[in-house]
Amino acid sequence: TRNGIDFAVADLSLHEFGRKEIRLAEHEMPGLMAFRREYSGVYPLKGARISGSLHMTIQTAVLIETLVDLGAEVRWASCNIFSTQDHAAAAVVVGPHGTEEEPKGVACFAWKGETLPEYWWTAEQMLTWPDGGGPNMILDDGGDATMLVHKGKQYETQGVVPSPEADDSDEWKVFLALLKKSLEADNGKWTKIAEGVRGVTEETTTGVMRLYQLAAAGELLFPAINVNDAVTKSKFDNRYGIRHSLIDGINRGTDVLMGGKVAVVCGYGDVGKGSAESLRGQGARVIVTEIDPICALQAAMDGYQVARLESVLPTADIIITTTGNKNVVTVEHMAQMKHQAILGNVGHFDNELDMAGLQRYPGIRKNNIKPQVDEWIFPTGRTIIVLSEGRLMNLGNATGHPSFVMSNSFSNQVIAQVELFTKFKEYDNEVYRLPKVLDEKVARIHLEALGGELTKLTKDQAEYIDVDVEGPFKPEHYRY
Ligand code: NAI
Repeated sequence: TRNGIDFAVADLSLHEFGRKEIRLAEHEMPGLMAFRREYSGVYPLKGARISGSLHMTIQTAVLIETLVDLGAEVRWASCNIFSTQDHAAAAVVVGPHGTEEEPKGVACFAWKGETLPEYWWTAEQMLTWPDGGGPNMILDDGGDATMLVHKGKQYETQGVVPSPEADDSDEWKVFLALLKKSLEADNGKWTKIAEGVRGVTEETTTGVMRLYQLAAAGELLFPAINVNDAVTKSKFDNRYGIRHSLIDGINRGTDVLMGGKVAVVCGYGDVGKGSAESLRGQGARVIVTEIDPICALQAAMDGYQVARLESVLPTADIIITTTGNKNVVTVEHMAQMKHQAILGNVGHFDNELDMAGLQRYPGIRKNNIKPQVDEWIFPTGRTIIVLSEGRLMNLGNATGHPSFVMSNSFSNQVIAQVELFTKFKEYDNEVYRLPKVLDEKVARIHLEALGGELTKLTKDQAEYIDVDVEGPFKPEHYRY
């Protein structure tokens, strides 16, 4: 704690570098800056205590400072052990008007390269406010903060915490140890925190899936807004964001030429589409694997070979998973990969690759090349290069999505936070999406920033296609 702000970051002296990059990012984040202007002097988030769990990057710093500008108090942690940019974390603690000796920013608990016990410790710090209370809003990416509150309450009231899938995983054991410790210190803490939360706004596909599962089971403890499925989020960040950051991660991690190589993309949803385009842009021959015939056909029509992983393992130089599913690349697959082939995952959790199986493989050895790049040596002498230990490699090996696309995503986050914080009484414990007119507003701001000219409907034309001159321009079921 310094100047009343508690924090755990790698190096606070990095704040000046962080501030310089934040200043450049602000220019590239016109959506967030527009909200600062629109709400100037209004403070719609006054009284909001937001606990945020989202990759602590430069872009997230601009989001955090927008939330503060709108009146919120904020505590933050990263939602991934490798995704923090240490200069961004330092800069949000110091704040735009503070110094290293007298920080005036927000409480932040994040550094690049956390261990799992440290990760869950930062999550608990982020949700525990200095007065002993909890947040009244959660901003989540992947659902870990939401899960901690839900499982914490379940542990306190029922004493059992079944994991949906991974009871014996190391990750789950670490998580249970944290719950046990917190229960010993303060039995009832998570129940109290759960009661104080007005709502959660969720950033990503995987977190949204977890929320719908909770809601379907009748177990969701507060209303949720699914930010991911705003069109200006998933059709932009998931797709065009990864188009930028996937190859950035491969380049920074390996510097291997992609042109002429065979790259396999597992999954052809939004992230898969951006990944395939990104690799093709480098001249790689891209092959797609899919379980869904619609997405598979899309891939085929886009000109990619569609195949099963098993059929293409002997030729693949690069394999990237984008499914949000588990065990997509098994250890048996890995053992059959080409010598020095590259394996990376950009789906939310590391269980897309059977990393646990790889560690247990008889006779396997690991040779660390540099942080977030490991060569795994099979007993045959054949090796594969695994990026970021199977975790989101576009954030682990590079710096994630660029500012402009994150401005779209985070504009939706700000809208969702204001909506739930101010109108939570109008919402049930269900999962909601933002109205289309707000999606169009976010798009409009970013189109203008790019100098795009939007055609205006005449009244006559609007009547003919049965929409309002000012929008929304599409029915809910339209897919873009
Ligand atoms: P999506 O649902 O649009 O796409 C996933 C696709 O994977 C689907 O088409 C599905 O049919 C396919 N799939 C499922 N199991 C498969 C299997 N065994 N083999 C082949 N294909 C399979 O989801 P979206 O939005 O593309 O997100 C995917 C993951 O990426 C999620 O975990 C999400 O949270 C994460 N994500 C990561 C980002 C990053 O920066 N790295 C950014 C945004 C999302």
